[in-house]
Amino acid sequence: MFVEDLIYLDNAATSWPKPDNVYKYMIDFYRDCGVNPGRSGFDKAIEAGNILENLRLRLTRFFGGDEDTPQRLCFGYNATDALNIILQGTLNSGDHVVTTNVEHNSVIRPINHLVRDNGVEATFVPFDKNGFVDPDDIAKEIKTNTKLVIVNHASNVLGTVQPVKEIGKICKEKGVLFAIDASQTAGMIPINMKDMNVDVLAFTGHKSLMGSTGIGGLCVRKNIEIKTVRSGGTGVRSAYPYHLNEYPYRLEYGTPNMVGVASLWAGQEWMDNRGLENIYAHEMKLAKKLVAGFKEIEGVTIYCCDSMENHLATVTMNVDGYEAGDVGIMLDVEFNIATRTGLHCAPLVHKQLDLVKIHGAVRFAIGPFNTEAHIDKAIEGITEIAKRAKKKKQLTV
Ligand code: ALA
Repeated sequence: MFVEDLIYLDNAATSWPKPDNVYKYMIDFYRDCGVNPGRSGFDKAIEAGNILENLRLRLTRFFGGDEDTPQRLCFGYNATDALNIILQGTLNSGDHVVTTNVEHNSVIRPINHLVRDNGVEATFVPFDKNGFVDPDDIAKEIKTNTKLVIVNHASNVLGTVQPVKEIGKICKEKGVLFAIDASQTAGMIPINMKDMNVDVLAFTGHKSLMGSTGIGGLCVRKNIEIKTVRSGGTGVRSAYPYHLNEYPYRLEYGTPNMVGVASLWAGQEWMDNRGLENIYAHEMKLAKKLVAGFKEIEGVTIYCCDSMENHLATVTMNVDGYEAGDVGIMLDVEFNIATRTGLHCAPLVHKQLDLVKIHGAVRFAIGPFNTEAHIDKAIEGITEIAKRAKKKKQLTV
């Protein structure tokens, strides 16, 4: 089997392939203008600086941030990097943070470190049987020392989109900072930070924003201050002995990833041409087909896909009689289908669903370049594996 035949259903890990214009622009930009932006005054350096600044504004608009302060869109390596900056840059000893069981380790682990090493207190709110966190449950946990509420906009395991607008309203009323992890939603569904009362948003470039790995960042609303957590080069006021306090330098460290910047610029172009709602509609059509197909197969359990409202095209399941990892290997080796199995870096989701003992679940994450034929193959593969599981069970009874 050739890699060209690969049915890639791991788009929640990273989108692949990227649109052709993204590959082309990354190469062209780096060949023509791969110099250090903001460090020197020659024409090419200014040109490189311009794309960086233009992208700040473009993404600020895309996220519904404050257009008059685009410098508050700061770049980093990825969402994990941005989330570390948000958590370490806002929480101090004695502060309380409210978060949820749908979080990724990029939130869980930095919080656990702050709790263990820095005297921070944390509460994790569970999700309901459909995979949604109830805003009232968040409200109940807010106390006088609660500094921050941080929520995964959509679960990377379940695909459920959390009611962040309602949570944002509660945070605003209670005067608590509200941050979201938009790793799975940025480039998939519309986001408007102002409308959703989101103070800080973390994003990654390599998922639905269609950029490369190694670029991500955060968008910080006006009047919100996040502490500098690292220090180093910025390219400006080099004689000053400390890291600069003003944005974007305050939260950016060293030479930026300009190939990644180019990839995100081209990703935005692609998205503008195709239309966010069309991309989402295509993926959801396939996701519904996959769920309908899986529902027909005996021995298959699907998690939190009863309604595909407020959902991304991510479908997580198990085949009774097999561990998730075994199903993933069979799909890969026999059917040339790439999925992700295990705990998906989100152990609390699996813990709440009691899936840790069977080592998690199998996740099918659909992307814009998947087709109906890919879904047919996935259903065919799981049908065959479920039959095998049934036979295995009969033999062992
Ligand atoms: N967080 C990524 C995933 O869900 C890597 O697979």
